[in-house]
Amino acid sequence: MNDALQRLPQWQALAAHRDRVAPRHLRELFAEDPRRFDRFSLSAGDLLADFSKQRIDAHTVALLLDLAAARSLGDCIQRMAAGSRINVTEGRAALHIALRAETRYCVDGAEVTSGVHANLDRFLRLAEQIRAGTTTGASGRTIRQVVNLGIGGSDLGPRMATRALARFADPRIAVDYVANVDPAELGSVLARAEPAETLFILSSKSFTTVETLTNARTARAWLAARLGSERAIAAHFVAVTNNLAAAARFGIPATGCFELPEWVGGRYSMWSAIGLPLACSIGAANFRALLAGARAIDDHFLATPAERNVPVLMALIGIWNIDFLGAASLAVLPYSHALGELPDYLQQLDMESNGKRVGADGHPIGVDTAPIVWGGAGTVGQHAFHQLFYQGTRLTPIDFVVPAGRGGEAQDALVTAAFAQSAALMLGRTAEEARAELCARKIPSEEVERLTPHLVCPGNQPSTTLLFPELTPSTLGQLIALYEHKVFVQGCIWGINSFDQYGVELGKHMASSIGLAETPAPQLDSSTAGLTQALRRMRGG
Ligand code: F6P
Repeated sequence: MNDALQRLPQWQALAAHRDRVAPRHLRELFAEDPRRFDRFSLSAGDLLADFSKQRIDAHTVALLLDLAAARSLGDCIQRMAAGSRINVTEGRAALHIALRAETRYCVDGAEVTSGVHANLDRFLRLAEQIRAGTTTGASGRTIRQVVNLGIGGSDLGPRMATRALARFADPRIAVDYVANVDPAELGSVLARAEPAETLFILSSKSFTTVETLTNARTARAWLAARLGSERAIAAHFVAVTNNLAAAARFGIPATGCFELPEWVGGRYSMWSAIGLPLACSIGAANFRALLAGARAIDDHFLATPAERNVPVLMALIGIWNIDFLGAASLAVLPYSHALGELPDYLQQLDMESNGKRVGADGHPIGVDTAPIVWGGAGTVGQHAFHQLFYQGTRLTPIDFVVPAGRGGEAQDALVTAAFAQSAALMLGRTAEEARAELCARKIPSEEVERLTPHLVCPGNQPSTTLLFPELTPSTLGQLIALYEHKVFVQGCIWGINSFDQYGVELGKHMASSIGLAETPAPQLDSSTAGLTQALRRMRGG
């Protein structure tokens, strides 16, 4: 076991500090310091990050910053921004910040910004033409429906953002997303699509992903059957990919392809032509505002000292929760119906990037890494899973993501609920408070004693609140860039290459070796072989 990280004096200092801080209750920390909110909240762009309800004190932050320095975080960030091949296993740069930059970025000394701008102009032009109704299909009818066929990073970002920014959408264009290979998903979209007015965007960086290609073939057959010929396909498909040759073999000419650079990881790609369906929905100006929002956070991230750098502190506090307080998950709770798919998006961003046990150097990391990211829109979750936060046995750090909005009865109730949840989870309810509450309800005293333990809530659940004025393309861009950099910083501290995903390939490989043949392959384990046989029987085979 390579325990280099744990043997660092800075790590050991945090472990010793944990033994002093962990038993303390957030109630005490707030009581001791009336200025705790001022001390532990910071701004980046339009985002206010309140870390004061985290189980930290000023010394925790100082020690975490020492750890960051010991792990040469500043150098890591510089190497990323310099376009170095920080994705060491695949020999690639990870320069998604160049996709929203106005300044010059290089990969291997070659300038990439002008190419980025040319691609951006090109796919935004197509989006605007579609919105203007000047793009036509094979039969000359106007394209009115856009269907994105993609999965993972070629789906989750634009899908989440299309819903988040629905109020900026052009009602004349329907934008749908199909990710699952389950024919039910594509089937439900095709059932309401008019073939002559539909454009499919085949989004796949690799152009080898089984789900996407299976759906694409089904869509192609559906079109050919209804439009009368395979020749019509070229007018109804465009591709976003790094594999232009495979797209050409599928029947999409170079003029219909938007190239995704090799140095953009799939889960970091919504800023590229992977965002085309989103651009069709919200238009070029709003898409550029999304990029500008992300750029504002990039500028903050690259230029702000670590002690005031919001993504850096968010990352370090996350590591504190995971590795020193023992948290296994991170709940992301957007108090915004429009942001309902944010947790799904962040799942891939965080878990596919840092869900790893071996560092970039090939040695075991030796400590826990990415949390299990989950969540859902408030206030719905309050009536489902918040009970576990209050009285369950697990420490569950929470990110409350709260657009202030413009007020009104319902919006006020929503924002109040978010603030109330973070306060109640932090404070909890003591036995004395529970007893007082029961007495106030005139409950007989023997009942009070019986019920009191059931009302006690330990509190001390750590949370961060991200508050911003309104959900707009700009603030959404800021929010996503914040999380991207948080994940990157955590990867730097743990020593992870956050930009590969070899684990996922094992499942893909297994799927290709199983098959559903009458006689199971001899190498199959008895469970998998038994299941394939049972499936054949259920199908009457
Ligand atoms: O299977 C995981 C994954 O490779 C993700 O990393 C990626 O975002 C997704 O599949 C889709 O890949 P592609 O864009 O190459 O189809």
